[in-house]
Parts: sequence; structure tokens; C-alpha cells
Amino acid sequence: MNAIELLLTRQSDPKLTEPAPNKDQLAIIQQAALRVPDHGCIAPWKFIIVQDEARHKLGDIYYQSAVAEQQEEKVINRAKELPLRAPMIIIAVAKYQEHPKVPRIEQIQSAGCSVLAMQQAAFAQGLGGIWRTGYFAQSAAVKNALNLNEQDEVVGYLYLGTPTIDCKKSPRHKPENYFSYL
Ligand SMILES: Cc1cc2nc3c(=O)[nH]c(=O)nc-3n(C[C@H](O)[C@H](O)[C@H](O)COP(=O)(O)O)c2cc1C
Repeated sequence: MNAIELLLTRQSDPKLTEPAPNKDQLAIIQQAALRVPDHGCIAPWKFIIVQDEARHKLGDIYYQSAVAEQQEEKVINRAKELPLRAPMIIIAVAKYQEHPKVPRIEQIQSAGCSVLAMQQAAFAQGLGGIWRTGYFAQSAAVKNALNLNEQDEVVGYLYLGTPTIDCKKSPRHKPENYFSYL
């Protein structure tokens, strides 16, 4: 797949199954994450790979956090199952560091670029992925259990695996509705 085809056809795949990215595929995904724009070259990122049994560990973290933070019953009841929706999850974190020229938002944007880069690297290799967030990305208890600081931001959970259905999508947005000339 060439680069333009990738950029114009990338899509998310919410239904994912085994196999997870293999060692070589994962290495490319990791390199893509680290190749994103990074103001000041401060590398404000941390990535946590979750697969196999560790998905249950993440589910327990979700569950315990949802209980501790008194989430709705429906959130608590689903918590343990959420990480089982794909064979691999990469948790992308903006590791905020105070910097005279790089404000927090730019560090978060850089980490967000990493999520997209990883999804694209997966897609280009015939894999599928979807970027998810929600309560578990905002939860202080989850951050604490993942050994993150209060200042860190979980920018996304990138679910990765093999797509189970072909969810082709039609072109959505028209450029003229979003681009204008000054
Ligand atoms: C920051 C961010 C957070 C998102 N969080 C979720 C989420 O929690 N659950 C979800 O189903 N989709 C979420 N999405 C949307 C999907 O990743 C995806 O973009 C959407 O399903 C549209 O599919 P497409 O990428 O094929 O256009 C999020 C997207 C972004 C950029």
C-alpha cells in the first residue's frame, strides 16, 4: 500500500480478533509511534502494551477503578470485558514534562499523533485497529494503577488485531465544507 492510498483509505475496525500484530509488525508499529512530530524533541510519550493475560489485569484495573470512583452500574459491569475486545491494546500516554517552549497541549497533540501513526502502521500491514478513550482514559484511579502521574494524559487505548468484518466506508466529508482560503 502506498502512502497516499493509506492516508485516503485508513479506517477503524471495531471488531477485532486474533492474531494480534506479530513481533515484526509490532516493531513497525512501535517505530511509527516514535516518528511523529515532537516539538523540542522531548519525546513526551509512554506506551504500555497489553496482550494475552495482561488484558485481564487491565480489566481488573478498570473494574476496581470504576467501583472506587462510583461509576454507574453499567460501566462497572462491562469493565472487565472491555480489554477483551481485541488481542492487543496499546495504551498511549502523554508523559507531560514542564518545558519553557512546549506547552501541555502540544505534548498531548504529539502523543495523539502517535496513536494515529500506530493505527496507520497497523492498517498498512493488513491489520485493524480502533482508537478508544472514554471514562477509563480520564479516570484518576486507572492512571494511578498504571503508575502514571496526575499530570500525565491517557490519550488513547489503541485496540489492535485482525478485522473480523469488512466495514468499508463511503467517503464522508467534502473538503469545501472544511477548507477555505484566506
Ligand atoms: C481521541 C479519540 C477518541 C475516541 N474514542 C472512541 C471511543 O471511546 N469509542 C469509540 O467507539 N470510538 C472512539 N473514537 C472514534 C474511533 O476511533 C473512530 O475514529 C470512529 O469509529 C470512526 O471510524 P473511522 O476512523 O473509520 O472513520 C475516538 C476517536 C478519537 C480521535
